[in-house]
Amino acid sequence: MSVVRSIVTGSGSYLPEKILTNDDLAKMVDTSDEWIVQRTGIKQRHIAADGEVTSDLATAAAKRALEAAGCEASDVDTIILATATPDNTFPASAVTVQANLGITHGYAFDVHAVCSGFVYALTTADAYIRSGMSKRCLVIGAETFSRILDWDDRTTCVLFGDGAGAVVLEASEAEGLNTDRGILTSHLRSDGRHKEKLFVDGGPSATQTVGHLRMEGREVFKHAVGMITDVIEDAFAATGYNAEDLTWFIPHQANKRIIDASAKKLKIAPEKVVTTVQWHGNTSAASIPLALDMAVRDGRVKKNDLVMLEAMGGGFTWGSVLLRW
Ligand code: ACO
Repeated sequence: MSVVRSIVTGSGSYLPEKILTNDDLAKMVDTSDEWIVQRTGIKQRHIAADGEVTSDLATAAAKRALEAAGCEASDVDTIILATATPDNTFPASAVTVQANLGITHGYAFDVHAVCSGFVYALTTADAYIRSGMSKRCLVIGAETFSRILDWDDRTTCVLFGDGAGAVVLEASEAEGLNTDRGILTSHLRSDGRHKEKLFVDGGPSATQTVGHLRMEGREVFKHAVGMITDVIEDAFAATGYNAEDLTWFIPHQANKRIIDASAKKLKIAPEKVVTTVQWHGNTSAASIPLALDMAVRDGRVKKNDLVMLEAMGGGFTWGSVLLRW
């Protein structure tokens, strides 16, 4: 049976030039490289320059993804940008990316699911493509979390960084089998009862301010592994694949301990896990496409590889996408 699948034809990413190391942070708050590495695996993170905004990072990553896909900006009909740190309350930063790329047709919008944003955006783009509403989408995750951190709070400011990643997702005819290339299954979940465990204490309607990130770290940690493994098991159940069939596991890069514990529970071999949290910190919606692009460019991810993406974050929101590269 002939079906439409969404296949990734190119990826790109962008990191701001400035690097903030753990030793740099130890001069700002009462922390140490040893504490941060032991608890999180993070060694450094990138920080956007003054005046550099989320749409700038997103545009740079998008240009690299278009180049890798071998297409022009004008070939794109849809832009979906996952971000929790838009340039402004409105318009969506996606329309700024659209204008930066010189695109005047089609449509662009933001998706907001915090750290799960890229998985939500990719799933949305896939649904638009399979319904015939889009032919070629730019799906981007971009964040400037440095702008919403309380730099006096050592329990949160050491965890996050800025960056962007993007993929070009295109409609392609396929056979409707699990051996097809493209997105094979997606599973999204949320549970708003947990919204106060990880949130920003400001916003246009509540306080008329931007606010700062607040988190009950232990509570997040406690729920993360179970939620992540649930949606991955949903993906296995939907396709008949299992951990041994995966070529790569590319999780949201929040914390090395969460990544390792999830992989262990799922029995995914450590050599299949792509980890970038040590260099990037937690870049929220940008972390998966950043890690993906790094693994594509260094030659690890190749055509026909079976790749599992997953994320969990504020809300709580969580989800998985299983795709064949
Ligand atoms: N440097 C030094 N000491 C610190 C720091 C720091 N940066 N931060 C906290 N501490 C101290 C605390 O004050 C506490 O001291 P006390 O015992 O004197 O009170 C001690 O370290 C232990 O604090 P805990 O919060 O219990 O430390 P824990 O082992 O839980 O590690 C962490 C904290 C790393 C945040 C952990 O809970 C975690 O990884 N949580 C998951 C959170 C996460 O990754 N969120 C990302 C967003 S959500 C997502 O993307 C999935």
